[in-house]
Amino acid sequence: MILVTGGAGFIGSNFILDWLAATGEPLVNLDKLTYAGNLENLASLAADRSYLFVRGDINDTHLVKRLLQEHHPRAIVHFAAESHVDRSIHGPAAFMETNVVGTFRLLEAARHHWASLEAEEKVQFRFLHISTDEVYGSLEPGDVSFRETSPFMPNSPYSASKAAADHWVRAYHQTYGLPVLTTHCSNNYGPYQFPEKFIPLIILNALRGKPLPIYGDGLNIRDWLYVGDHCAALRVVLAKGTPGETYNIGGDNEKTNLDVMKMVCAVLDELRPDSLFKPHQSLLTFVKDRPGHDRRYAIDAGKISQQLDWRPEESFAGGIRKTVQWYFDHSPWLENITSGAYQQWVTTHYRPAVRQ
Ligand code: NAD
Ligand code: DAU
Repeated sequence: MILVTGGAGFIGSNFILDWLAATGEPLVNLDKLTYAGNLENLASLAADRSYLFVRGDINDTHLVKRLLQEHHPRAIVHFAAESHVDRSIHGPAAFMETNVVGTFRLLEAARHHWASLEAEEKVQFRFLHISTDEVYGSLEPGDVSFRETSPFMPNSPYSASKAAADHWVRAYHQTYGLPVLTTHCSNNYGPYQFPEKFIPLIILNALRGKPLPIYGDGLNIRDWLYVGDHCAALRVVLAKGTPGETYNIGGDNEKTNLDVMKMVCAVLDELRPDSLFKPHQSLLTFVKDRPGHDRRYAIDAGKISQQLDWRPEESFAGGIRKTVQWYFDHSPWLENITSGAYQQWVTTHYRPAVRQ
């Protein structure tokens, strides 16, 4: 079996559903259930005996050690993190606590567990650390895409915390021999993404006839990947990756934020022909830019493609259509998630729109 951390979040819950469907191998999901963790994402597993949820913090070493002893996982797949750049600007402390200190404590528990394994189990054990392309910093137009050898140049408290964790993970391999794998993925989108992130925020606001907030000039570029493709890549890395190696994962799909917004709106116009807010693109509102806003991310995924034979399958047009349709079909999920903590965040973060 495997131990997953942060499995009630966006990518973690997609990974768990995908993992159980693809492999059937049992797993334990350790999640603190912050504002971003949502057990509704995993409601379909309620009666699944291969799945166990444990509410807890990766900083709780006592709990993590107990879980490792009781369940004897062959791998740890580490998603748990504070993941939103804007929140890291408003309140960086939680990013230090979970992303840096939490990863350190998890590594320590993993190291002791690994040291206690039989020789063959030791060879098979893996610690898969899910990192981000943001550790590499920002590209200008025309720069070559990020490679695994690109220098780290994080620009936000979020990306700095992920970069710090990545260094700790690397050091545990170099120093103690812990069989670690690290992945650097680009922007994900798809079902179950919390609507503080760009694509679900655009869908939610457009459905409700609210402004679609575009930071700065809207020409920042992200390299979008459908979450199902990320989950498949992680399964491949876990199965075939070489301990100590890092792997970039991306969709080879660079788009400006304005283009993404227009594509989402075009799908909405088509799926909701009678909407009062059509054309949805007219809701576009330029707002103050994010401080330190990275201009462009682009991933060179040549290594994982050549060495591990992984490639993304979903086109951006197809993935966006599926995603918009998913949010249409899951309005109760959206209603539940957009009460309480979410409303508080919107009030804190979004000030009255300023036209550029
Ligand atoms: P998310 O914010 O949706 O989910 C994070 C999950 O971690 C939540 O369920 C939360 O409750 C849990 N968590 C937070 N602190 C915890 C703690 N101390 N102990 C236990 N659980 C805790 O994040 P996501 O978008 O699913 O991202 C998952 C991972 O993938 C993160 O490590 C992130 O850095 C990385 N990543 C995300 C993207 C993306 O586009 N979303 C891209 C590349 C990498
Ligand atoms: O690149 C991988 C990273 O992608 C992950 O490591 C992070 O966890 C994930 O949150 C994401 O970071 P971004 O900052 O790129 O994602 P976000 O959805 O917050 O923003 C995407 C782009 O859209 C970015 O250029 C900022 C812009 N944006 C975002 C919001 C929330 C807007 O223009 N308006 C908005 O309201």
